[in-house]
Amino acid sequence: MKKLDIKTPSCESTVWCGEGALAKVLPEALEGRQIFTVTDSNVYELYRELVSRELAPRGHVHVIPAGERSKNYSCLMGILKAMLASGLRRGGTVVALGGGVVGDIAGLAASLYMRGVRLVQVPTTLLSQVDSSVGGKTAIDLCGVKNVVGTFYQPETVIADPVFFDTLPAREIRCGLGEIIKYGALDKDIYIKLIENKNRLARPEFLKGIVYDCIAHKAEVVAADEREGGIRKTLNLGHTTGHAFELFYKRRSHGEFVLIGMYYELYIALRSGICAPEYAQSLISLIKSVVDVPAYENVAEACAGAVHDKKNVGSREIVMVVPAAPGEPRELRLDIGEYTRLLCECAAETEGKK
Ligand SMILES: NC(=O)c1ccc[n+]([C@@H]2O[C@H](COP(=O)([O-])OP(=O)(O)OC[C@H]3O[C@@H](n4cnc5c(N)ncnc54)[C@H](O)[C@@H]3O)[C@@H](O)[C@H]2O)c1
Repeated sequence: MKKLDIKTPSCESTVWCGEGALAKVLPEALEGRQIFTVTDSNVYELYRELVSRELAPRGHVHVIPAGERSKNYSCLMGILKAMLASGLRRGGTVVALGGGVVGDIAGLAASLYMRGVRLVQVPTTLLSQVDSSVGGKTAIDLCGVKNVVGTFYQPETVIADPVFFDTLPAREIRCGLGEIIKYGALDKDIYIKLIENKNRLARPEFLKGIVYDCIAHKAEVVAADEREGGIRKTLNLGHTTGHAFELFYKRRSHGEFVLIGMYYELYIALRSGICAPEYAQSLISLIKSVVDVPAYENVAEACAGAVHDKKNVGSREIVMVVPAAPGEPRELRLDIGEYTRLLCECAAETEGKK
């Protein structure tokens, strides 16, 4: 088990990562506290024993339906009303036990209730361990726009234990690998490890080590730029196109769309002369080792969603972060027309290769 402290202007967070973190840190973190747990229906079923042993005796357990559709206004209000009804006090602690959906909505509720109560994140998916539980972004979706209502609110403690991976379906492992490969495009050391282990990325022994590396990368970035004024924007690599496609094509997981977004944006980086062909090829081979990249139809329509991305609202310009060289991401701005043209070209070329 390893420990990482993240200091931001607003607060200090401690991340505990690795085998044994749950058994050792959770009871200590909750000792003597009044708590309110948020979890989802799947996690509740799978981890009933953990909930009844560690969480239920210390306070109310609120279960939301599993899945992205719970990241909405009425579910948020349901959590806040239950906090009030359970008598949660100002000094209480919210525990988010689940994937990124639970972490995002419980984090938002914790930041709003009585103007902020303490928050402990216990991420149970690969994606939430490497990404969403760290860094303090909380959110719900509104009118089909992802994460558009939210706050920056740092958890006091994050407990990232690989014990939860035992029950994760292959699809959720692929989803987490999407974000892990994104870190590979941002961090040279992670990139080298991914290339060296290309044929065993989903193996538990590999995941246990790489989760810490990704969290350490994110911790450094968040400590330097909590509010995403500068370097934190790099963490959105693959997400501009990934989010637009996720909104339009649906059906796949968030992490798979991050990879597909990265693939299409790599094409743009190549055509714009920003990324060297060999480096782009090695990233593409990593992407393809995890997802089957589709040659989408109606790409022009799907691209329209990129203007709803928070970075691009009200603009004709699409802003994205693309890999230039190992450990060197770069911001790229393109007119929406050029962006759409290049993505359509990429879809046509991908179709040709199938
Ligand atoms: N706040 C951030 O910085 C940030 C970063 C990246 C993504 N996100 C958000 O995270 C969300 C995606 O997170 P996610 O991929 O964890 O999705 P999720 O929370 O929906 O979890 C995926 C599925 O796995 C199930 N599950 C969770 N833990 C399990 C376990 N241990 N065993 C078996 N099943 C389990 C869940 O019930 C759900 O069905 C999106 O809403 C995305 O916007 C937030």
